[in-house]
Parts: sequence; structure tokens; C-alpha cells
Amino acid sequence: MPKVNRLIEQFVPKHYELDLTLEREKRIFSGLVTVTGTTTETGTISLHAKDLEINTVNLNGHKASYKEGENDEIVIVGDIQPNFNYAVQLAFSGRITDAMHGVYPCYYTVDGEKKELLGTQFESHHAREVFPCIDEPEAKSTYDVSLTTEKNVQVLGNMPIKTQREETDGLVTTFETTPRMSSYLLAFVVGDLHKKSAKTNNGVDVNVWATSAQSPESLNFALDIAVRSIDFYNEFFETPYPLPKSDHVALPDFSAGAMENWGLITYREIALLADPKTTSISSKQYIATVVAHELAHQWFGNLVTMKWWNNLWLNESFADLMEYLTVDALEPSWKMWTEFSEMEGLMAFRRDSLDGVQSVQMDVNHPDDISTLFDGAIVYAKGGRLLRMLQQYVGVDAFRAGLKQYFQDHAYSNTEADDLWKALSEASGKNISEFMTPWLTEPGYPVLHVTREGSELKLKQEQFFVGPHVDKNRLWPIPLNANIDGAPEVMTEETLTIPFHEGVRFNAGDTAHFITHYDNELLADILRDVTDGTLTELDRLQLIDEQTLLARAEILPNSSLIPLIREFADETSEPVWNLLAAAIGELQKFVETNKEAENRLRALAGNLAEKEYERLGWHEKEDESEADTKLRATILGEMLYSERPTVIDEALKLYESKKLEELEPEIRALILSAAVRYSKEPVVDTLLNVYKTTSNGELQHDIMAGITSSRDPEVLKKLLALTKDKSVVRPQDATGWYVNILRNRYGRDMAWQWLQDNWQWVLDTFASEKSYDYFPRYAGAILRTKQQLAEYKKFFEPMLDQPALTRAIQIGIGEIQGRVTLLDNQSESVQTALLQY
Ligand code: BES
Ligand code: ZN
Repeated sequence: MPKVNRLIEQFVPKHYELDLTLEREKRIFSGLVTVTGTTTETGTISLHAKDLEINTVNLNGHKASYKEGENDEIVIVGDIQPNFNYAVQLAFSGRITDAMHGVYPCYYTVDGEKKELLGTQFESHHAREVFPCIDEPEAKSTYDVSLTTEKNVQVLGNMPIKTQREETDGLVTTFETTPRMSSYLLAFVVGDLHKKSAKTNNGVDVNVWATSAQSPESLNFALDIAVRSIDFYNEFFETPYPLPKSDHVALPDFSAGAMENWGLITYREIALLADPKTTSISSKQYIATVVAHELAHQWFGNLVTMKWWNNLWLNESFADLMEYLTVDALEPSWKMWTEFSEMEGLMAFRRDSLDGVQSVQMDVNHPDDISTLFDGAIVYAKGGRLLRMLQQYVGVDAFRAGLKQYFQDHAYSNTEADDLWKALSEASGKNISEFMTPWLTEPGYPVLHVTREGSELKLKQEQFFVGPHVDKNRLWPIPLNANIDGAPEVMTEETLTIPFHEGVRFNAGDTAHFITHYDNELLADILRDVTDGTLTELDRLQLIDEQTLLARAEILPNSSLIPLIREFADETSEPVWNLLAAAIGELQKFVETNKEAENRLRALAGNLAEKEYERLGWHEKEDESEADTKLRATILGEMLYSERPTVIDEALKLYESKKLEELEPEIRALILSAAVRYSKEPVVDTLLNVYKTTSNGELQHDIMAGITSSRDPEVLKKLLALTKDKSVVRPQDATGWYVNILRNRYGRDMAWQWLQDNWQWVLDTFASEKSYDYFPRYAGAILRTKQQLAEYKKFFEPMLDQPALTRAIQIGIGEIQGRVTLLDNQSESVQTALLQY
């Protein structure tokens, strides 16, 4: 992998004066930047600049010249001494494009009128597309920003407005000087926006903004969560939010989910806006976690920043943990830690079982490689789980004390893992580096095999793999969290013998990051507790999760999932049900080619869900719990999967009798999907018309989910074509559409062929974004035949030398290979077990 130069090693910037003139209609901008800083021993000055035209260069007031270097560098040429202060001034200009990074336009419609606004996205290294700078997280500087824009708009920056005046050529806005910060956190938004405001306990102005296509009420929920989150963090970190204001803006076009720009957080509309009348509970929970996540970054990431991207987890793993920790504190009834086990556990354990997967902490040298680090399953889910494990290991109080110290020692500065370990070691008296380093720097995780031999338990750890792999004999320090006496706190060896006790369990509370494989006798005891109703919700969840994973790895026969699932006929917990649904989903791939067995699986799902179906029905009851409202969707999903005619009829009746906006939001996607599949009337075009005109992102999402579940090849073909049609599907949503069609069994072959035929479009649209590798990745997660494996290799192997794709392709090949073998080995026995059921 090619290495890029670290420009901070030759010039250390201190302050930027940045004046930008934005000409939205002409799609151009021009600017003048003066960066002051100090040369190092090398006595050279190179800056990052990409797709910018440099018009003049001045060095300490004298005209200088420059040449273009590699890797987005411009090299300033002149009389430059080592260890000397310089003011480098550059006049430049650039283009505003639809790429959704750098500075870009967002499109929306209000009452039929087409409108636009301008926004920015600089992480991970797009600041260089807007002004020449040292675009590295370690190059922290203060910034004085001034923007010249069109008139009659809101102009938002990281800091409050200092001055604003109308001049002949536009509106000139200057902002207060920022604190020392990294370039990737700068941002501005310019457009016709409205807001709701409130203040935190210590007087920080919090504003939630959206375009005029969105109602004022839709801002309230996020505003409440944002204010309470800041109050929570102020107390939790004992380090006050350092800026005078915190803006939260919903942008109609946004590539990621949200972005933590300091003082000016930007979001997708569905990640921020909640109409009180029509937003589902799941959506509100999602919004709350996104807001809490981005606000956590105002400390983890913005105030204290990783030195380099290899320690991205210092940002993202922490923010992932804080999503749950904070929302749990704000809304205890949501039981966020159970949600954490369910969601982050499933994601991390599945991805991290594949050989070749990245570790949480990961060397990275080239910018093209950085985007691949933002792996939701690893740096987010696994990283978040590792930090949760660490929090339990050091104890919640020491954890907090350590964090407070860390913020005190490193505010406005940059860190590496060791800085955090030092603070936490001092606070806890434990050697944190020794404990955490293997977990963070090695890929994968252990399975703990537990066997009873008389009065003893034999424990053995080994890396857990699904699919083809090379075992490197990795070992981890495993916090056993055993519920019996006689087990050590941490198991560091490969094997261990401890005394047996009745009812033994490991990883109690699911706060550590390993899975347990109990022998048959121990498992039988646990299953008996399921029947007796004595296992906790978390225990049940963990049991299904672990058994499903062990089946994936063929440590257990996949047919064993059938009797397991059947133990749960009396289950009432929403998170447990979600994992049961996931386990049923796991079995589907074994029966695709055997109609009779498939019908049995459908019947099994229906029989299992029937009791809760009777209890919950189709409509929200006034006094029901939010968990039940969410559970209804899972249960109806299983009942619809069962294809019982009465259930399908009921769904169709609901679709026909109500307006889309009146359907209960938690189950709307299911009803639409049933209508698309089973209605005699043409449904898809009607839905598409609503999709095109509504400004309700959640409704759009449900319509997308509904229509992409069609079984009609003509419809699916049309939907694939629409994926590329910007006038219908926003580029931010195109991947979602595509993946849904690929996941749909009736669209799979077609979507795979389409990807191969339309690769140029993928390249043009996504090559510069972090979602580029989703395409080989999703295909790897779904394709399953020998022929598809051969096609996948033929198509993707020539792209292995693209740094942004290498890992996704390598893992994809192994994953499909593994699935082919799994189906070969296990389909027959699963089918037989179902037919006997
Ligand atoms: N910093 C990221 C967003 C990001 C990462 C933008 C890389 C561009 C490149 C942000 O904090 C984040 O993690 N967003 C998540 C949503 C979050 C709630 C999990 C995202 O965008 O998926
Ligand atoms: Zn984040």
C-alpha cells in the first residue's frame, strides 16, 4: 500500500483566515486563505489541495510559486527556512459539484417549487476540496471564516456569527474564531432554513434546523434529546461543552447518516426529524442515538482528536458506546443495553467471524484506505462492545474518572491509544494496555468451549471463524464474567479447568466480547431454564445469538436451530423476538430449493408467532408499552412470512382502507410490502408517485422497503433502473434501494447481473465515498451458488488493487465460498428436520 506524506511533519499550521465566496447558481466558489504556521527542520511548505485552481501564492507578503505534487499536494517554492514562521496566502477557486463532499448543493421542493441549499462534508479528507490546508487530524488550528453568499438565507458555521452585512455582491458573514480544531470538522450550511431553539442548563444555545419543506413540529423531538444529551455529557465527562452554541441541521442530501462538525452537526433528514403524529418509536430511538452519537463526538473527536486515522476508534467506538449509555440514561424504559446486545452484538459477531476482517485499530497510510475503516460492524459495533467490556473491567466510576482526566490532559489536542490507557490505568490501578491491546489490534474474537467432566469444567478458547480461514492461534484475555465461584476474573491461557457448579454461565450480562459453546449436557440445562421461564431476557437473547453463530460455523448442526426456536413459543420480549426472527432468517437459505421444506419453515414461523399475534393484533392499544408496539412489527413480519391467507387478507384490507399517512408507522412497511406482493390492483406506481412527492423521509423509506420486496421481475427490473434515476431516487438512497433488491430472493440474480452491467455508474457515483465498498460487500453477504462465486471472482478480482475495495473483495470471496460449502453440507439435514416437524 503506497504511503502518503504527513504534511504536518514539514509545516505546523496555527491559524487560518479563510474567506470564501459561494456562487451557488454558477456552481463555483472562490477564496482567499492565509495560513500562518511554522516550518520544521525540513524547511518546506506543502499543503493539501484537490480539484482547486490556484490563482496566486504569497509567502510572507512576497509573491511565490508552487508546483503540483502527488496525493493532492501542492508544493510552495521560494526562500523557505527551517523552524521559521510563515504566512502563506493563496487565492483559489473551485467547482460546486453534486458529489456530497466538499461543498455541495442539496435539492428539495416546497409547494412544487424547486429549491437548493449548500452544505459541506469534510470528513475524512475533503476540506482540501474547498481550501488549501494541511488536511490531517493532527494539524489543529484556529479558524476565522468569512462567507460571501446570496442574500436572504441563513448562514451557519461552526461558531456564532460575529458580523453580517449586505453588500452589492452578496451577504457577507463572519464567524467568531474557532477553538483549535482539525480541518475535517469545519462546516457551513447556507440556505432557507427554519429552526427551533432551547438552552442547556449552562446556557449553550441549541438549535435544530430544517428546510421549509419540513414542519416546525418535526424539530421538537431532536431538540429535546440534544439539550438533554449535552446536559448529560457535561455532567458525565465533568468537562463542559466548549462552544457557545450547538446547531443540528437536517440536509435533504447527505451521504452518511450524520456528521459531528464542531458546533454544526449535519444529518440526513430521517436521522433528525420526527413528526410527532407519524414517527415510529423505532425512528425516534434511532434519532436519539444519532444525536447522542454526534454529540459524544463533540468531546471524543472534536475536543480530543485521534492523531491519525489508525486510531479512528477513539472517535467512533466511543461514540458508539455513548449512543447507548446516554440514551439509556435519558430514556430508561427503552432498555438500551438490551438493544446494544441485540444490535451491536449481532453486527459485530457476524462480520468479525470472517477471516481477513480488519481489526478495530488498524494501520492506514493512504487516504483511499481511510474510507474503508468506517466499518459499521467493526470500528462501531465491535469497538463499542470492547469499550463496554473495558468499562465493566475497570468499573463504571473509575471509567468516568479516567475519562475526565483524559479530557483534562488532552483538550484541544491529539491522542493515541496509550494516552487513554494511561488515564484509565491511573484511575483503576489496572494494566489497561495489556488487557485491551489484543482485543483492539487483532481481528476476530474467541469462542469459549465449555465441557463438563465430572466435577470439573474444562474451558478452551479459540478464534471463532465462519467459512474458510487460516487459524493464527490467537489468544485473548477473556473476562469470563462467570456466575459461579472458582473462575478467575480473566482467562489468558488457551485452556483452564475450574470446578463445576449447577447453572453455570459465562459472559453474564453480555458485557464481554466472546461467545460460549456449552457441551450438550450444559446446553440441555440452559434450555430447561428457557422452558421453566427462569432465564433473563438478556440470557435468552444471548443464547439464541450464540447458537445461531455456532450453527453458522458448523460447530452445531443448523438443524439444531429448529428445536431451539420451538422452545420460545411463550416469548414476549421484543429484542428476543428480533433474534428469533433472525434465526428463522438464517434457516431460509437452506430451503430455497425445496418448496415443501420451505412451507414447513413458514408454518413454523406462523405457529411460533401465533400467540403474540393473538395478544397484539394489528393495532396499537392505548396503554401498551413501546416495546409491544415495536414487537407487533416483528410478529406481523413472521405471520406474513407464514403466508396464512387470513393474515395476508388483513394486511390488504388495511392497505385499501387507509391513506398511507394514516397507517401505523411501525408496521407500515410490512403492509406496503404485502400490498405490493399480493394485491390484485397495481400498487407500485401509486406508491412511487407518493415516493416522488412526499418530504417525509420515513414514509419514503417504508415505500422503498415495500416496493423492493416485489416478486414481479418486470417491477424489479424497473426498480433497478430507477436506482440510477436521480429525479426519483436521491443518490444518498440509491445503495439502500439496490441492496434491498439484491436481498430480495426474486431480485437477486437480476440485481447481481445489473451490478456487473452498471459498474461504471457505481464508480462515478460512489468511488470517492465511504459507501463504495458496500457493493462488493453486500454481494458477498448475499450470493450463494458455485456459479455466483465464479462470477464474483471473475468480476471483482481485477479490482483487488483498488485500496478502497481490496478487503471487501477478499472477504466477499471467502464469505460466498463459505456459504456454498455450508449449503452443501447442511441443506439436506435442515430440510429433513423441517419435514419431520
Ligand atoms: N463521523 C461520522 C460520519 C462520517 C464518517 C462521515 C466518515 C464521513 C466519513 C459520524 O459520526 C457517524 O458515525 N455517523 C454514522 C451515524 C451514527 C449515528 C452511527 C453514519 O453516518 O453512519
Ligand atoms: Zn461517529
